[in-house]
Amino acid sequence: MYPLTLGLAIENRELWEQVQGCLSGLPFRVIVEHQDIGDLTNLLDRLERMRPDVVLVDISTWKEPLEGLTSSIRAAIGDPMIIALNVTAEAEAILGAMRAGVNEYLYPPLQDSLRRALERRAAERSRRGQGAKAGGKTLGFFSAKGGCGATTIICHVAAELGRLNQKVLLADLDLDAGMVAFITKTKSVYSVLDAFNNLHRLDISYWKALVSNGIPNVEIVSSPLALACKQRPKDEDVRHVIGFVRPHYDCTLVDLGRSLSRMAMAAMEEIDEACLVTTLEVPALHQSKQIIQTLLDSGYGKNRIRLVLNRTPKRLDITPGELEKMLGLPIFCMIPNDYPELYETYAEGRMLNRNSELGKHMTRLAVKLANVQEEQPQKKKFMLFG
Ligand SMILES: Nc1ncnc2c1ncn2[C@@H]1O[C@H](COP(=O)(O)OP(=O)(O)O)[C@@H](O)[C@H]1O
Ligand SMILES: [Mg+2]
Repeated sequence: MYPLTLGLAIENRELWEQVQGCLSGLPFRVIVEHQDIGDLTNLLDRLERMRPDVVLVDISTWKEPLEGLTSSIRAAIGDPMIIALNVTAEAEAILGAMRAGVNEYLYPPLQDSLRRALERRAAERSRRGQGAKAGGKTLGFFSAKGGCGATTIICHVAAELGRLNQKVLLADLDLDAGMVAFITKTKSVYSVLDAFNNLHRLDISYWKALVSNGIPNVEIVSSPLALACKQRPKDEDVRHVIGFVRPHYDCTLVDLGRSLSRMAMAAMEEIDEACLVTTLEVPALHQSKQIIQTLLDSGYGKNRIRLVLNRTPKRLDITPGELEKMLGLPIFCMIPNDYPELYETYAEGRMLNRNSELGKHMTRLAVKLANVQEEQPQKKKFMLFG
């Protein structure tokens, strides 16, 4: 079930207890708890920062016109489901609430009615999950078998998108061997694990404290410094973090490490397009085929998988057509093999030169993935004087 996040604004003790009783057996996370309905400014401020999917608001003591309350909540967080809770089932109160724009009006006993309403919303969000999420695009990068170049590519694609004025998040979810920080020269004491371990305080200001931004327009959240991290975040926590951050960026790029790990699989629900980076080596192609099949079997649409063929030699032993037939997918992009260029890049402790052949390929891939306009090279002005 989709892991909805909830905001509770409940003053009435009976309603509060019934809501807690109902939620205790459900997989939804309460991220805002507010008990003083009169303190609307504080409530709206917390809702705006945490952006829950559903707001349960106790209207039993609300004296003002309800429209004011619902429109302020929508102004703060876009399009949440608003459930009005009341102690009475009077027809007039129900009608008034519906007219004010609440999605549901519930009254005690809440146990079943609230559970059904939340399950309906969760099912709706899961259906919407196929490509129509709020916020920017999320792209997940996998390395078919490790060493194929996924991390090299994601870092350079992120830098290019930043240069094209996209607001980018580059998140390293390769908890075993994350290299994003090394390639981008990011130094941070925090990592994405801090987000997983502090979900109860994950709001935008906490998130901003975790990210670093050494590359213009690109915010980077690293994997933990210690390799072979023992901690495995829960599937729903992975989805929660990606779902929370994505509305804050035009493009969220996630390094999902090698092959198709359990965590990568968990993240897929929040990933709009999967970029599978492979080389022409036989083991990498074998692994690519397996990954593609697993993704398709899990219901991930073929049109959402981007096949990136890296380190392609000048002369191919196999034609692109044969390769596409073998993998059952079109090749989205081919990037040449250029060991000397990368060797020099890393030896000098910088990122790829944009004018190098490899750099130009990274730009083209970034433009194609994010569907943005490539900037036109400025024509040299002919100067008559001076
Ligand atoms: N197009 C390329 N040409 C030459 N070497 C490459 C290319 N892309 C990546 N590499 C090199 O391959 C190695 C593995 O790259 P990396 O990005 O860490 O792979 P992955 O993330 O898939 O495990 C690195 O040494 C990197 O410099
Ligand atoms: Mg990698």
